[in-house]
Amino acid sequence: MNSSESSSVNANIDPANLPSHIAIIMDGNGRWAKKRILNRIEGHKKGSDAVRLIVRTCREIGISILTLYAFSTENWQRPKTEVTALMSLLKNFLKSEQKEMLDNNIRLNVIGQIEKLPEDVQQVLHKTMTLTKENNGLMLNLALSYGGRAEIVRMVREIATKTKKGEIDPDLITPELVSDFLYTKGMPDPDLLIRTSGEMRISNFLLWQIAYTEIFVTETLWPDFSKQEFLQILKHYQRRERRFGKV
Ligand code: FPP
Repeated sequence: MNSSESSSVNANIDPANLPSHIAIIMDGNGRWAKKRILNRIEGHKKGSDAVRLIVRTCREIGISILTLYAFSTENWQRPKTEVTALMSLLKNFLKSEQKEMLDNNIRLNVIGQIEKLPEDVQQVLHKTMTLTKENNGLMLNLALSYGGRAEIVRMVREIATKTKKGEIDPDLITPELVSDFLYTKGMPDPDLLIRTSGEMRISNFLLWQIAYTEIFVTETLWPDFSKQEFLQILKHYQRRERRFGKV
């Protein structure tokens, strides 16, 4: 596809019907590397280029929130060398993107067990979140040491503690109250969830928040995911009728 064709894809997107919140399960870095007889870490490196591209595209078209599943609670069980490489990639990404985030009104946010990340990664994350906290363009929401079940357990514990202290009336526990005790407090639920590399699973991602989310699974491996395919998925999304359980 040449650049005029790709801008025509862009032009076919209705700016009035964009998803506010897009969530992505970025899968397939390992397979991308394996296909090329490379180390898995090379796949993650190429994967961080795709992150840069999709963040840029979301900002250009005016998406409000992009939530990326960058590291799950289960990913701690990968070989130590891979975990270390992922952490160092993340740190380098944040350092190299700080200027772009500031220049382009992007705000960084983290969901997940930030306290479990290595000290140096936590420091860069906190610094970037502080530097970008007044930005009100795209929110780049990184899910790090994130697991949907762990998030739900944390919410139940907090609500139970407050209930025990008499601060919450059990009869007044509503879906809205539950949402306020999740990492995504104050954010709209994702309108669109994209998963790359073909697996038909949710993998413990945003379990509560995706109740009515439109799901798209593509066979493309994350490092190969392009702006063109992303825009095509947005076009498909705009053709879907969202009924939220109604007729
Ligand atoms: C899944 O691929 C991907 C991950 C576990 C990590 C995602 C990380 C990145 C895209 C790069 C760094 C992130 C940022 C935000 C800069 P996989 O390894 O499970 O692939 P496989 O299923 O093919 O083995």
